[in-house]
Amino acid sequence: MPDTDYQQLQEFNLPGSLDIRPSEGNLPSVTVKTDPCIATQYLHGAHVTHWQPADHEPVLFTSAEAVYRDGKAIRGGVPICFPWFNAHPTDPDAPAHGLVRASTWQLTQTAQGPAGVETQMVTNLPTLHANYRATFGKQLTLNLTVTNTSDTDQTFEAALHTYLAVGDVKQVFIAGLENADYIDQLQDNKLCTQDDQPLTFTAETDRIYVDNQATCTLTDPTLNRQITIEKLGSLSTVVWNPWVDKSARTADFGDDEWTGMCCIESANIGDDAVRLAPGESHTLLVRVSVTPI
Ligand code: BG6
Repeated sequence: MPDTDYQQLQEFNLPGSLDIRPSEGNLPSVTVKTDPCIATQYLHGAHVTHWQPADHEPVLFTSAEAVYRDGKAIRGGVPICFPWFNAHPTDPDAPAHGLVRASTWQLTQTAQGPAGVETQMVTNLPTLHANYRATFGKQLTLNLTVTNTSDTDQTFEAALHTYLAVGDVKQVFIAGLENADYIDQLQDNKLCTQDDQPLTFTAETDRIYVDNQATCTLTDPTLNRQITIEKLGSLSTVVWNPWVDKSARTADFGDDEWTGMCCIESANIGDDAVRLAPGESHTLLVRVSVTPI
């Protein structure tokens, strides 16, 4: 990014708590350093890559192999999948998970709010405007508000694709999805129902829980903590771990990194996609918190 653009971004600095600087790949990022937490958010994809509340290990996983450049999504943190999830429904050449996770967003506001340092970034597609507000405090709160700027109805999918750092994925369990229906992306999108037990990981896992607004709590006995994901405006929850083979096939992901992560994604996918009338808005909110056990 040219120096002049950096100079303009400096107006968003909050002395003593937030500054804007070139980070990995020389991409501009917001760095938050406060008593409640430290955090990093790139303008590239509005991507939060790091959030570490005081007295905790980092809560988000970001791959050591992540690539930081225009046109490529950062592997880890919280990619924003929008306006479609996975492959485009009709265009096989379109990128997976939409258009905005690999392009630069505009930083429009920073502030010290009651719950922590706040940022706002925006981006525009031909018919949709996306406004992303993040609050970095003892909790991490992410709000994706999408507005239909066209004069016809618009339908979109979205996911806040949260990569969580775990001590050992084979030891963790997720409460909140017991007895819930899900599409198994590893069984030709077969509709299945989870049993009445918390979810554990014993193999590659790639599920879209449908019509589901549940709060999920991940218990991590290795790191002695629980991570809670609360959400609003989201009817789909994706749980993903690539396990051994898919990790090996994924270039920007270490072969062994699957043991230290899993994704719990708050989303609106397929039948749960959002339809907006002209001028209408929809907000997807995710709140991440961590407690010792
Ligand atoms: C998950 C999908 O949300 O994202 C998986 O359910 C996919 O199927 C994963 O493999 C990672 O996607 P990508 O495009 O970031 O490699």
